[in-house]
Amino acid sequence: MKVIEVKDYNEMSRKACSIILDTIKQLDNPILGLATGSTPVKMYEYLIEAYERGEVSFKNVRSFNLDEYVGLSKHDPNSYRYYMEEKLFNHVDISPEHTHLPNGNALDLEQECRDYEEKVKEAGNVHVQVLGLGLNGHIGFNEPGTPFQSRTHVVDLADTTRRANARFFDSIDEVPSKAITMGIGTIMESDRIILLVSGEKKAEALHKLINGEVTEDFPASVLQKHKDVVIIADGGACHRP
Ligand code: GLP
Repeated sequence: MKVIEVKDYNEMSRKACSIILDTIKQLDNPILGLATGSTPVKMYEYLIEAYERGEVSFKNVRSFNLDEYVGLSKHDPNSYRYYMEEKLFNHVDISPEHTHLPNGNALDLEQECRDYEEKVKEAGNVHVQVLGLGLNGHIGFNEPGTPFQSRTHVVDLADTTRRANARFFDSIDEVPSKAITMGIGTIMESDRIILLVSGEKKAEALHKLINGEVTEDFPASVLQKHKDVVIIADGGACHRP
């Protein structure tokens, strides 16, 4: 794993943006694995700015997001589909058919998971997968205890995760208790992974990810076994208080 320590959130976002831009420019049909949460927000802003400057086109880009809440429609401002449209897709020339997120409103969720997994496989390898880091070490919505070989599946969200994400909702009761997430096995098949970590509240989790043992009790520790991981972390995340 390569760890790049940057000054602050903006620099982390700029660095991540430039890795994605390089990938898009180098490949004829780039496939991006995208993440939500607060961490990548600025990276998406920088990508939009690069597009507006005419530096990049998303015409040939295909994207697969990591996860989606169960039970929220795509019009719900808290759904990850809504987030992606608002934060990136509506502002660049990516074709809507090229953007993929699990459908958390599917009638048959198990079938939806199999279909999503199949779509990722058919597309070929994700070239660059962006990841954030949950406080309990979750990646996507793979909570502690998820098998490393897991594929796209339905998860029961941990109380700590629901509490951490309650800030986006009116109350914790509105935070869905389930989600669909790409599995750890699915994520690990990406050619390259960039993990973004910002702020001192993530410092403990980052320390554990880099120095701790590889264990399913701390899902992000699996990244130690991937051949091409770049961790971009700011000063707050790199130094435990
Ligand atoms: C959320 C998402 C993850 C995200 C993580 C960190 O629950 N499902 O994909 O990476 O938690 O979120 P944040 O960036 O807001 O700290």
